[in-house]
Amino acid sequence: MAPRCWRWWPWAAWPRTRPPPSESTQSRSRAPVGLNGSAGRPASAKYRSFRQQFSTQEQTPQICVVGSGPAGFYTAQHLLKHHSRAHVDIYEKQLVPFGLVRFGVAPDHPEVKNVINTFTRTAHSDRCAFHGNVVVGRDVTVQELRDAYHAVVLSYGAEDHRGLEIPGEELLGVLSARAFVGWYNGLPENRKLAPDLSCDTAVVLGQGNVALDVARILLTPPEYLEKTDITEAALGALRQSQVKTVWIVGRRGPLQVAFTIKRSLARGSGWWNYCFEQPRRSQGWRRLPAGHRPPAPGASAFSEALSRCCPRQMGGERQASAWQSPDWSLSLVLPTLSPQGVGEATRAVPTGAVEDLPCGLVLSSIGYKSCPIDPSVPFDPKLGVIPNMEGRVVDVPGLYCSGWVKRGPTGVITTTMTDSFVTGQILLQDLKAGLLPSGPRPGYAAIKALLGRRGVWPVSFSDWEKLDAEEVSRGQGAGKPREKLLDPQEMLRLLGR
Ligand SMILES: Cc1cc2nc3c(=O)[nH]c(=O)nc-3n(C[C@H](O)[C@H](O)[C@H](O)COP(=O)(O)OP(=O)(O)OC[C@H]3O[C@@H](n4cnc5c(N)ncnc54)[C@H](O)[C@@H]3O)c2cc1C
Ligand SMILES: NC(=O)c1ccc[n+]([C@@H]2O[C@H](COP(=O)([O-])OP(=O)(O)OC[C@H]3O[C@@H](n4cnc5c(N)ncnc54)[C@H](OP(=O)(O)O)[C@@H]3O)[C@@H](O)[C@H]2O)c1
Repeated sequence: MAPRCWRWWPWAAWPRTRPPPSESTQSRSRAPVGLNGSAGRPASAKYRSFRQQFSTQEQTPQICVVGSGPAGFYTAQHLLKHHSRAHVDIYEKQLVPFGLVRFGVAPDHPEVKNVINTFTRTAHSDRCAFHGNVVVGRDVTVQELRDAYHAVVLSYGAEDHRGLEIPGEELLGVLSARAFVGWYNGLPENRKLAPDLSCDTAVVLGQGNVALDVARILLTPPEYLEKTDITEAALGALRQSQVKTVWIVGRRGPLQVAFTIKRSLARGSGWWNYCFEQPRRSQGWRRLPAGHRPPAPGASAFSEALSRCCPRQMGGERQASAWQSPDWSLSLVLPTLSPQGVGEATRAVPTGAVEDLPCGLVLSSIGYKSCPIDPSVPFDPKLGVIPNMEGRVVDVPGLYCSGWVKRGPTGVITTTMTDSFVTGQILLQDLKAGLLPSGPRPGYAAIKALLGRRGVWPVSFSDWEKLDAEEVSRGQGAGKPREKLLDPQEMLRLLGR
């Protein structure tokens, strides 16, 4: 692709003749500087002639990443580690970083959030900058980013939920698990969700790990959540909750569920047996001393719990028991399915029978969904991903993707890490092979100017650290690791904006 010359960077495509200087002569901090009002030294003639002589590979490659979840941070980490001069800007739509690590991972799994320490180390690199409060596709286009950077990596995750597309989905009391998770985890757009927990019975549709997370949060006695980073509003609602029974309904038998059995058994899963066999409000539950965990059940106990979760199993061999698929109109209607065929060819076939499952709350948990970010970026609506080959966006040189938007909304943080490292590696290979635009690129200097003209005020990582300190201090009184700030306006006020 022909390099694009910036108006304020007329020497961008000058020929490269001299050998590159040694790495020690290169600035390891942000470069280039002094452009178009950016901070730092002016682009003197000496500096320009120095810079014009080496290729993109040898210069400071300006790379930007869209999204600051695991995919964004792991991609940035790989690029910074394996290219000693690369500079990475991370753009994030929220005022705060870390994506689903903050807004998805369940509050009672704090150990998972330790990856934030690794991400923070990456953000502290003097070759990395975080720009929150910037919605790519709205505040700045992907084309504008491509013009300003040598390469752009799209790591914006899967922010929507898959709909069941069956009648009744819009009824009051029917929510997506995504919104419910966002609510208890303090996602600003879901802070006013106010789910009605005055019912006795809730149904979760889907059998993935998110389904387990929401069922567990609904059933966990609030005192076990009090010392987590769950929002105070969610904790208050859960304290008032009347939900005693949660049905997890899926279209497969217990042996084919999508959730991680080992993890569920290993981590507090004594609860499962207990929760599903006894309503949480029972005296037995309430009498448990604080901190007590019922012993983790063995596999047989788990199957027993599951047979109670999956309504109306027909008995006999579990693989041969009836399957059910969610569908409802005014109340939840479960058509009964029966497995036919063997192995991978097994299909669930309706038996014609339907059963009603009365409930007051339905949480649809059949997966997340990525959306197109910008008309200039190809998108496969069927698979819900950006078409790519190992992270290279098909037919768009210089554009890459990683994480859930690359491979679909499945996989844990380590899967996302591996996948992001591959994208980083591919990008660096392309850089080395001279496949990315040559000549310097202005990077954030150009985007900052654009955003300023559009009235968008990005927040930096040190801004986030101020918000972080505020959250930690607000949580201290209640013995929580933090009390999350929920209102973007309040966050901006705290930052003096
Ligand atoms: C409810 C839930 C719980 C989970 N729990 C666990 C767990 O316990 N352990 C585990 O290993 N894995 C867990 N996972 C999986 C893990 O969260 C994912 O593998 C991982 O977060 C995917 O990373 P990502 O960066 O692709 O997406 P995300 O984490 O979603 O990050 C995407 C980022 O892009 C930003 N963004 C979106 N659009 C734009 C835009 N237009 N402009 C700028 N920025 C944008 C988003 O705000 C977000 O910060 C969980 C997933 C969910 C849904
Ligand atoms: N603790 C953790 O480590 C943790 C926590 C949360 C999430 N995660 C990860 O995050 C990813 C996303 O989790 P997820 O639970 O959203 O997705 P998921 O694992 O893909 O599970 C989705 C569930 O919805 C079902 N489903 C899909 N379409 C359906 C339909 N039309 N009708 C009925 N059921 C339907 C699926 O059934 P089929 O199997 O039949 O398709 C499956 O049971 C997963 O990789 C998960 O492991 C991990």
